[in-house]
Amino acid sequence: MSYGFFDDKQREYVITRPDTPLPWINYLGCEAYFGIISNTAGGYSFYKDARLRRLTRYRYNNAPFDFGGRYIYMRDNDSGRFWSPSWEPTQDKIEKYSCRHGMGYSIIGSTFERIRAETLYFVPLGENLEIWQLVVTNEGKKPRRLSVFSSVEFCLWDAQDDSTNFQRNFSTGQVEIDRGVIYHKTEYRERRNHFAYFACSEKLAGYDTQRDVFLGAYRGWDRPAAVERGRSFNSEAHGWAPIGSHHVKLSLKPGETRRVIFVLGYHENPVSGKFDPPGSQTINKRSVKPTIAKYLKPAAVDAAFESLRAYWDRLLGLYQAKTPDRHANRMVNIWNAYQCMATFNMSRSASFYESGIGRGLGFRDSTQDLLGFVHMVPERARERVLDLAATQLESGGAYHQYQPLTKRGNNDVGSNFNDDPLWLIVGVAAYLKETGDWSILDVPVPYDNKPGSESLLYEHLGRSFRYTLDRLGPHGLPLIGRADWNDCLNLNCFSDTPGESFQTTTNKEGKVAESVFIAGLFVLAARELAEIAKRRGSTSEVQTYLKAAARMEETVLAQGWDGEWFLRAYDDSGRKVGSRECDEGKIFIEPQGFCVMAGVGLGDGRARKALDSVNKMLATPHGIILQQPAYSKYYLHLGEISSYPPGYKENAGIFCHNNPWVMIAETMLGNGDRAFDYYSRINPSAREKISRIHRCEPYVYAQMIAGRDAPTYGEAKNSWLTGTAAWNYFAITQSILGIRPTYEGLVVAPVVPGSWKGFTVSRVFQGVRYDIRVSRKGKGNSVKMTVDGRSVEGNLISRPTAGITSVAVQVTLS
Ligand code: GLC
Ligand code: GLC
Repeated sequence: MSYGFFDDKQREYVITRPDTPLPWINYLGCEAYFGIISNTAGGYSFYKDARLRRLTRYRYNNAPFDFGGRYIYMRDNDSGRFWSPSWEPTQDKIEKYSCRHGMGYSIIGSTFERIRAETLYFVPLGENLEIWQLVVTNEGKKPRRLSVFSSVEFCLWDAQDDSTNFQRNFSTGQVEIDRGVIYHKTEYRERRNHFAYFACSEKLAGYDTQRDVFLGAYRGWDRPAAVERGRSFNSEAHGWAPIGSHHVKLSLKPGETRRVIFVLGYHENPVSGKFDPPGSQTINKRSVKPTIAKYLKPAAVDAAFESLRAYWDRLLGLYQAKTPDRHANRMVNIWNAYQCMATFNMSRSASFYESGIGRGLGFRDSTQDLLGFVHMVPERARERVLDLAATQLESGGAYHQYQPLTKRGNNDVGSNFNDDPLWLIVGVAAYLKETGDWSILDVPVPYDNKPGSESLLYEHLGRSFRYTLDRLGPHGLPLIGRADWNDCLNLNCFSDTPGESFQTTTNKEGKVAESVFIAGLFVLAARELAEIAKRRGSTSEVQTYLKAAARMEETVLAQGWDGEWFLRAYDDSGRKVGSRECDEGKIFIEPQGFCVMAGVGLGDGRARKALDSVNKMLATPHGIILQQPAYSKYYLHLGEISSYPPGYKENAGIFCHNNPWVMIAETMLGNGDRAFDYYSRINPSAREKISRIHRCEPYVYAQMIAGRDAPTYGEAKNSWLTGTAAWNYFAITQSILGIRPTYEGLVVAPVVPGSWKGFTVSRVFQGVRYDIRVSRKGKGNSVKMTVDGRSVEGNLISRPTAGITSVAVQVTLS
């Protein structure tokens, strides 16, 4: 059963029926102004921070699930019938519905009684506003007299406060209406210097700004009183719930098409110039009016849309692959890269599963996300690295997250996740390899944003390294702290009080429970750091890092090996977690993937053994399960992991984030068939045909797919904002297709399926375009190469001489 199709040429997913199993969404905006939009025009917008600067209101976990958004109503003024071209909220029997989710835009429309109405939604580059361009066509033979009503519900800025503090908020709402533009200015009278505006290109027949007047008492968005009667009330909001709605009348001859443009935006004034005239309470609109006027003109909208398309052409053009697998092509060339940019912009803050309130930019999450977007936006990646590092603590530890608007770290979802600091090394290494920008290491960066505490970014990395060594447990393995990558393996929590957060509760001292996963991550990070130190000429540090990595590797082999696979951890009583000795949770995916990625067990066959155990015990047709057997009950000493019913989330769900670790590990052992097989199992495009089971969007990865212990085995949840995006992108582009940036140049080391006859990759690396053509002559992975016609030893393409901007590479695999 399908709900749409991929239009790869347009880089769109086209949804052909509105009742998708879940809202299938897209993101608008790629700089500072953002929105999420579902296939029925649900969603909301914000400036920089989904919690602190929310422009429009959205009620999560609604019934229906997705309700509230950028709704347009159409009305036939002769028959009095009205409908929503986006299906929601009126749910009429529209025809030829389609939602085209593209790169930074969505076009949603349908036909109803011979009126085609389609709206393009997007955010122009460089602007803090969104455009809704409605195109209405009379496809019938009679002239038609129509009304158009727009609607948004304003959020009173702080989304948390907006959804809880009603005793105050019902009295604070304020608007201004000036020449048809609706200005939302709640709290502008006091400490805010920003406001929202909602404008329309056409002469208005009326407007509304008070929700309950527009809708009518006891009515919902499915039949607003103003729309039903065909005339706005010209209401002005004082308190309660400010909204914006314009009413436009259109007369259309047969075959005639009209465009109506709406602009919803955010604007800031200097504090000293908030009011006009000074001393009044009226918003100073001088600096915003030209922007509004500009985007109400069709030519400006067309030009802005063209620029947006060109922006994505450029970003996606940086890495294009042609392989025998269309699902891989589509993900690599379009959707996976696009999703990586969404995780860059949102981290884990705002999706249909992340409320925009709870989690800002995560230290661990965003450093990993770097792997997926650094080649597309290197300058912004640089800023991100420095922002993240500035939230690091002097101890070397890290706040788990920070708020994008303030860039200040907080402990809202806990602290002392002992893996956190090491990810900074992984992220910085990826940044350096991609950009060659060594100057970043010499930037003075504060700790906890405290002026005066600055040290070089390079020194921050050293602190991350020492943080682990300062916290070793009884077996010489890293102490786990609150948790490691697996937020839910809470070995020091021991919570038996309902409602306590597993991430902020600690009832044990934390001196015993150790993580084999962190050990693997440490080996990898310490070796990366040694490579960096080497290139800075710090020979003694190189030795320190390499020795520590070697010692940790020995410790893992001695204390972290269970016979057939790597252990997961030692708990607070020193008992094994993830061992054949356990009744449940005998084997976990994380240390198998990560230890092998770090090179542990490569020399003595243990890596192969561990990965074969994964294949035997964890791999399913829907992806690789996190651990088995699932925990059938709550274990006080294990924490949140055992709080989930079997098969969901960290309790034996298919956590897509760490599947690519196993793919990468398989490529390190030369097994391209298995790596690609795992890749395909969770590839959303390859799962499109089972949309009924999968339920989430077929064009982006979800955080998890229910495992085989779950009654809803195969069902995805939490799409979009997940480390799955970056890691799968990394696995397919750098490990399977094997085109990798390194300090010395681009390496070509494909580990692809034996059945592939070849593939091509066109990749820009440090300003040079490499057109790489790989053909298979034999079954193996050994590479013979010519670069611009000259044969080259090994698999490294060194930097071309200055001035050369494109290089042709022929590779044979045998
Ligand atoms: C979520 C978190 C991530 C964590 C993972 C496993 O995806 O965002 O930080 O590593 O869950 O618990
Ligand atoms: C819960 C989720 C986990 C997430 C964490 C952070 O534990 O299960 O995936 O990372 O919350 O808030």
